[in-house]
Amino acid sequence: MRETLQIPESLVRLLRAAHTVVAFTGAGISAESGVPTFRDAQTGLWARYDPRDLATPQAFMRNPKLVWDWYEWRRSLVEQAQPNPGHRALAVMEGLVPEMAVVTQNVDGLHQRAGSQRVIELHGRLGRYRCFDCGRPVRREEAAPPGPEGVPRCPHCGGLIRPDVVWFNEPLPQDALEQASAWMRKADVVLIVGTSAQVWPAAGLPLEAKRAGAVLVEVNPQPSQLAPVVDFALRGPAGQWLPALVTATWPEAASAFA
Ligand code: APR
Repeated sequence: MRETLQIPESLVRLLRAAHTVVAFTGAGISAESGVPTFRDAQTGLWARYDPRDLATPQAFMRNPKLVWDWYEWRRSLVEQAQPNPGHRALAVMEGLVPEMAVVTQNVDGLHQRAGSQRVIELHGRLGRYRCFDCGRPVRREEAAPPGPEGVPRCPHCGGLIRPDVVWFNEPLPQDALEQASAWMRKADVVLIVGTSAQVWPAAGLPLEAKRAGAVLVEVNPQPSQLAPVVDFALRGPAGQWLPALVTATWPEAASAFA
């Protein structure tokens, strides 16, 4: 019998009274879908690589095929993964509050597959590609055959195509960052779910919300870098705590998790 997860009554009251809720998510919300987080040890073939040595423009220029293969491995992993009750709880919540946005650092698309409608992707998306040279978006099926580097090429300029994700030392998409910042500034409650909050500027977004008066709730088995400034900490897996939070706040929604 799973112990009942106690949600503080004061948090239930705040969430029920909230007009604008923002969920700020990281790799941890997809961990229970079998997608390894960044700071978990990599598995199998990729165990000997540190993501921070692969997810950079320099790594791609040094060894395009290695980086390409790593992203194709992650894309296939994610395509086989299913959204978990944590993703689904956020999608259910979106229909229960006046307005809600998910601001995610994840590139796996699992929020959208769980049914969340308003998802702001700060770090791009696996399965979307663009040309490394001319920057144009390139659909996988329209890419030109691989050159000597073993990576498909841009049909427009012949450059190498790359995953449309944000690499380390790269700027975030300006429109996504601006939208995320606007949502944080009007949020009543921000749920910080499954992120170590080590990577900026994303990690600074919940602080903007706090400065504007939002209540911060962390859902994570471990304290993140934001732990010192959160108002509530639900110390455990998102796949258990988010459904418990939704069910405690909106008992009528309990059937969504039956
Ligand atoms: N439920 C909730 N949180 C979890 C769970 C779970 N089941 N399992 C692990 N976590 C937490 C870990 O405790 C950790 O705090 O998820 C967090 C994962 O942290 P990271 O691996 O650092 O992932 P993230 O914070 O998303 O990384 C941010 O850094 O690597 C870059 O661009 C990449 O978007 C990524 C960014």
